[in-house]
Amino acid sequence: MEVLVLGSGAREHALAWRLARDEAVERVRIAPGNGGTPAVAETIPGLDILDPAAVARHAARERYGLVVVGPEAPLAAGVADALRQASVPVFGPARAAARLESSKAFAKEQLRRADVPTPACVVFDDVGEALAHARASDAPPVVKADWLAAGKGVVVPDSHEAAAEAIRELLANAPQGARVLLEERVTGREVSVFALVSDEAVVPLGAACDYKRLRDGDEGPNTGGMGAYAPVPWYGTAEVEQAVASIFEPIAWRMARDGTPYRGVLYAGLMLTEAGPMVLEFNARFGDPEAQALIPLLQGDLSQALLAAATGDLAAMEGAVALDSHAAVAVVIAAEGYPSEPISGPQIVGADPSSVADGGPLLCFHAGTRRTADGSFLSAGGRVVTYVGIGADLASARETAYGGAAGCELDGGQHRTDIALREL
Ligand code: GLY
Repeated sequence: MEVLVLGSGAREHALAWRLARDEAVERVRIAPGNGGTPAVAETIPGLDILDPAAVARHAARERYGLVVVGPEAPLAAGVADALRQASVPVFGPARAAARLESSKAFAKEQLRRADVPTPACVVFDDVGEALAHARASDAPPVVKADWLAAGKGVVVPDSHEAAAEAIRELLANAPQGARVLLEERVTGREVSVFALVSDEAVVPLGAACDYKRLRDGDEGPNTGGMGAYAPVPWYGTAEVEQAVASIFEPIAWRMARDGTPYRGVLYAGLMLTEAGPMVLEFNARFGDPEAQALIPLLQGDLSQALLAAATGDLAAMEGAVALDSHAAVAVVIAAEGYPSEPISGPQIVGADPSSVADGGPLLCFHAGTRRTADGSFLSAGGRVVTYVGIGADLASARETAYGGAAGCELDGGQHRTDIALREL
């Protein structure tokens, strides 16, 4: 089977690396990829992955056995719909189902209708009404954009003034007619849970924790994610199965019942509150950097599992993949100036991209990189590479990941030193 992966992050490098190691996969191609992905996949130049018709034309011509959509933007643009229409098997939900991520208000409504616990929220399209509601709330509410905001759509303000500023700023930069959600702030431990979903069938993949703030101790601005680890010692197989029964299956049923069946990976961001788990958000894709930690731990025929999810072949999906007994820690190296104004251009040394033959224990997945004619790498984005350590436990995985990060030379590069530390 030939597989096409869409996307350019470390998540897509990890997906392409893992799929290329499957026996059933003859070749992986990627669009647009990054400086490191030629180590695992052939780059398709010039394909606009946000253009559904162009992607469908290319995929039908090349007769891929499977297309795997990595990021959310092509899903929201309708790329999976166009591929399905062209009879190309695609792992990734249709635009209407991907609204679980692209519209937080839609996700809230589906959660309410499926009777799944989630923090209370109110939706506003008028800035004055939103400001009045925020002022009248006992505690400053969480402010969420009701559109895809490239990781900048959620603000957790510490004061009413900061909440007001977030409302004004989000609505000032909003697409025409867009809304914001003001959500009750809940506290507890956060965990990301992943499952394959195909219509009403759900196969759990596992849980991971990520670190969204830039600096150690959860200081600094929000980012796309600075590190992750799996498994989560306090959220194991039994808890994931419970989440499948109480969250994923009711939502999958709801979506199928509404005529918008979900096919792809569903990522639930949970807060484990004193009153029980609550869904903070859904994403219609793997998390980044959670994927870089989880994917190397997946045993089994991943390509067949993704294909089965794509085609609704539920029997082939059940038990096809499961996490092995190892642990993984992922440490992101970000560019100087990230996340507000990342500086591209400096050379990055010590970041040989993981190839198909590279089975660990240290893996290096590229994101914002560019390969020069002489084979060196230059930074070309905010998050530059992810080092992943695999070990018998989180301590050894962590040591390996930080060994990789220590060997990385990037002028102005930033990384957290506390990924997974709280578990040791
Ligand atoms: N790690 C958070 C995300 O992928 O949205």
